[in-house]
Amino acid sequence: MRIENPRLYDALCDLQVDYRPRQCLADWTSLGVGGTTDLLIVENPARLPELISLLRQEGIPWRLLGGGTNLLVAEGELPGVVLQLSSREAGVEFHAQCVRVAAAANLGRMMMECARQNLGGLEGLAGVPGTIGGALRMNAGAYGAQIGQFVRLVRVFRCTTNRIETLDGSQILFAYRQSSFAPDDILLAAELQLLERPYEEILASIKMCNERRRATQPVHEKTAGCIFKNPPDYSAGKLIDELRLKGHRVGGAVVSERHANFFVNRYAATADDFFRLIELVRERVRQAFGVVLEEEIIVWKHRL
Ligand code: EPU
Repeated sequence: MRIENPRLYDALCDLQVDYRPRQCLADWTSLGVGGTTDLLIVENPARLPELISLLRQEGIPWRLLGGGTNLLVAEGELPGVVLQLSSREAGVEFHAQCVRVAAAANLGRMMMECARQNLGGLEGLAGVPGTIGGALRMNAGAYGAQIGQFVRLVRVFRCTTNRIETLDGSQILFAYRQSSFAPDDILLAAELQLLERPYEEILASIKMCNERRRATQPVHEKTAGCIFKNPPDYSAGKLIDELRLKGHRVGGAVVSERHANFFVNRYAATADDFFRLIELVRERVRQAFGVVLEEEIIVWKHRL
C-alpha cells in the first residue's frame, strides 16, 4: 500500500518516523522473497500511541516487521504499511544479573555483550538470527534454551489500550514457539534475568552450538529457519526426510539437503514457489503419517 496523502508525510516526520516509500520486502527478509509496500521506521517508540492513532484515523492498516528472519511475504503490492522499530539506539544495560534490552536489538549481539559480563543461559540460541522482540514473541528456542524462561519484564505498546505498559514476566505465558502477547502488541523492550557463568564457558558452549548448527542446518543459504513446528512427539524434519523429499524443488524453492525442515531460496524463488512447496510437503506428510504440520514461520498474505 502506498501513502498518497502529502499531509501525512509531514505528520509522520513530526512523529519521528523515517518514511521509506515502496520498499521491496524481499530486501528486508532473510528468505529474500516478497512484494512491495511503504515502510515506516519508528525512531522513537514513545511516539507509537500517536502514530497508531494517526494510522487508525486515516484508515491505514499496518503490520510489524522485526528482523524479517522468520517471515514469508506474498508477492505484489501488499495491503497496509509496515512498521519497524529502529535499531539505532538499541543498546543494552546491565543491573546485577539482569540485562535490559530494546526489542529491536539483535539477539546474537546481545548474547555476546551478556557473555562479556559473565552472564549466560541463552547459549543454545547462538546462531538464531533476528531481534529480541521477534525471539520473545515466538519464544525462540534451540538446544535446550528458550528465551521466555529468562523474562522478568517486558515493555509493550498495546493497541487495545493505546498505551505503553510494563508486564511482569509472570503475566506472560510462554510455550513451545508461542507467547501470550496479542497479535497487535508491539514489544518495545525487555529485562532478562540471566545466569552467572564465566565468559570462557559461555564462549565454549556458543562455539559448540554453532558447530552443531553448521553441521545440521543450511546456515549459508537464504532461509526463514524451520518452516514447520515440530508436532508433539515428532520432528517435522525427520518426517519430511523419511519421505525422501530433501532436494525436492518447486520453482526456485528447495527442501534443504542438510535439514528437511528448512526450505531454501536457491534459484530466485518467488513466494508462490514457497507456498506450493509448503502445501506439497504438508500433504505428503499428512498422507504418509496422518500428521498435519503447522507453519512455524509467519506468513503475510494479502489478507490482513
Ligand atoms: N532429522 C532427520 N533429518 C532431517 C532433520 C532432522 O533425520 O532432515 C532428525 C535428526 O537427526 C534428529 C531429529 O530429527 O534425530 C531432530 O533434529 P534436530 O536436532 O535438527 O532438531 P529439530 O527438531 O529438527 C529443532 C528446532 C530448531 C532448532 C533445533 C536444535 C523446531 C521446529 N525446530 O529442530 O529450531 O534449531 O531443534 O535445537 O522446533 C527454528 O525454530 O527455526 C529452528 C530451526
